[in-house]
Amino acid sequence: MFQAAVKTLSVATTTSVSRRILLSIRHYCKKTPAKLRVSEAVSGAELGAKVKVQGWVRSVRAQKANLFLHVNDGSSLQSLQVVASSELNDPLLTFGSAVEVTGTLRNSPHQNQPVELEAQQIHVVGECNPVDFPFKIKERHSLEYIRQFPHLRCRTNAFSSLLRIRSEAATAVHSYFKGNGFVQIHTPVITSNDCEGAGELFQVEASGPENEEEENFFSVPAFLTVSGQLHLEVMSGAFSRVYTFGPTFRAENSQSRRHLAEFYMVEAEVSFTQSLEDLTKVMEDMFRSATEHVLAHCAEDVDLFHKHVTPGHRVTVEDWGCDLQTEHEKYLVKHCGNIPVFVTDYPFDLKPFYARDNQDHPEHTAAAVDLLVPGVGELCGGSLREERLDLLRARLEEAGLSDTYSWYLDLRRFGSVPHGGFGLGFERYLQCILGVDNIKDVIPFPRFSHSCLL
Ligand code: 4AD
Repeated sequence: MFQAAVKTLSVATTTSVSRRILLSIRHYCKKTPAKLRVSEAVSGAELGAKVKVQGWVRSVRAQKANLFLHVNDGSSLQSLQVVASSELNDPLLTFGSAVEVTGTLRNSPHQNQPVELEAQQIHVVGECNPVDFPFKIKERHSLEYIRQFPHLRCRTNAFSSLLRIRSEAATAVHSYFKGNGFVQIHTPVITSNDCEGAGELFQVEASGPENEEEENFFSVPAFLTVSGQLHLEVMSGAFSRVYTFGPTFRAENSQSRRHLAEFYMVEAEVSFTQSLEDLTKVMEDMFRSATEHVLAHCAEDVDLFHKHVTPGHRVTVEDWGCDLQTEHEKYLVKHCGNIPVFVTDYPFDLKPFYARDNQDHPEHTAAAVDLLVPGVGELCGGSLREERLDLLRARLEEAGLSDTYSWYLDLRRFGSVPHGGFGLGFERYLQCILGVDNIKDVIPFPRFSHSCLL
């Protein structure tokens, strides 16, 4: 109806009908308080106006004459102070309850909050029993404690900060690639290839009685992707810069602090490369650009982590549960002064079939690179790809994979160019910048072996 009114307005602006419509819109706007997000309200938007704010109660303090609430709606770390006459108090106004407050925004006499909401009406939308609620008012719960409640932990300051940072970091990754001429490719989640060749695959089968007869839903065994690399390589035969950013799956039976069964990977593929430096430059630029963006857009949330959740942003971690490789990685990072380190040219036999053979090296190595960072270990893994048809064919034949990857050999038959790429573990990136010890604390719903699923 509103849209219809606006349309009429634009075609007949001088008529008396349109004037009447305009007046009625003004009247309507005056009567209905503007709905504001808490972040808008605390920034001083609509000062002096009647507004409505919705959110969850983070603190309640009742005095003789006045009632004070802090209301948060997830739009920022800050909560909005609500001041009301004690007549508006309600026993259902408890920590964690959901409320809708209507009132007038005004300057606050308190120094640490410029704005407060003088409430005329408080409506409890959803009650919350403070005895049963696992989080207690004014208590700072540890990440380990809140991890026990994956369905409720977004209600804590720490985890809501983490989720805002994660969302902003994802935006930063996309804007880095967009700003640097990369085309985003939605690589498939279901695939028949095991790109890394490590056999850590989850098989995909149709369920339900109508599928019992069928051996496979697809004509070949299908798996959840362990990497979008090979599909990006397809695209890098036509686009010189591509990337993908999506869920990735590995059936690693690991309970470690840096492995998940489902995680997010950022992968880039660059055509016409000269050397590994073409890749390390992209890795470094992306890391810097995303981190600068996060620090600029989520300063308060990042501060919360650095001050209260992971004080001192620990650069060394306890050694339990780490495998030998992790120990080596940590040694290298420490040896280089606790800064990120690129390790290049790995023994050829340790790398998957796609890695480029460094034939000119005295030791038999592959042109592969890992980025190791303090506290986390391997953050990125990448390589130049074997673009030479004869070498790739020989390697696939040796591994008995020629038939499986005949399409991949085609990529080398038709306009093959030197190219390479890398993958960055998005959760490990968040661990790295926030100093979070356990990967399960940087993803909304962690999946790992023997975990229960929501
Ligand atoms: O080193 P990876 O296995 O590299 C690849 O998959 C390449 N195909 C990527 C490419 O070249 N396009 O994995 C890349 C990164 C690792 O460095 C690590 O940060 C992360 O993905 N990663 C995991 N993160 C969480 N849980 C796991 N189980 C992970 N496995 C790898």
